[in-house]
Amino acid sequence: MAHTLPQLPYAYDALEPYIDAKTMEIHHSKHHQTYTDKFNTALEKHPELFEKTPQDLLKDLSQLPEDIRQAVVNHGGGYINHNLFWEILRPGQEDNAPQGALLEAINKSFTSFEAFKTAFTTEASTKFGSGWTWLCVAHTNEATKPKKLVILSTSNQDSPLSQGLTPIMTIDVWEHAYYLKHQNRRPEYIENFWKVANWAKAEELLKQA
Ligand SMILES: [Fe+2]
Repeated sequence: MAHTLPQLPYAYDALEPYIDAKTMEIHHSKHHQTYTDKFNTALEKHPELFEKTPQDLLKDLSQLPEDIRQAVVNHGGGYINHNLFWEILRPGQEDNAPQGALLEAINKSFTSFEAFKTAFTTEASTKFGSGWTWLCVAHTNEATKPKKLVILSTSNQDSPLSQGLTPIMTIDVWEHAYYLKHQNRRPEYIENFWKVANWAKAEELLKQA
């Protein structure tokens, strides 16, 4: 079964004024569609791989056939990274902040939400070129509670799953994510991202990790 472009869980204009409708439409219906199509094209050379989840394919790159390995990293990564991105956005609110188990884990790993926000913003602002900044669960051998969280960036469409990390929050810092509204002003886009970050979804992903 070929992978399909997921429906957004909200309308293209639902994240206004923080993320504009035109950017959402192009990003979802053009960019994400292209990653989806090219991911499927790569897998058609080894159709048995359609039976695995894209996440499982990206968790162990060494098991991928060499002739499609980079295509799966690029387009399979682009496919699942955007799937996650749409899910961890939601219509904005000014006093948007994490709660519960997620807040506890953030406080434990970064001392406070403000310190986390500063560190994540710095990471996303200074990521050179195209890529993603992530909040991930770092798996350790012992069952640490609350779970240890880390901030990192990846280039292109590389997934943290390939590094053994489980992403629970992310921002797309490719220019296609913000150029129509913010042009070259990535910090302004990141500031708006905080208003539409879906902390409830991130907390759900933390619990599953
Ligand atoms: Fe993107």
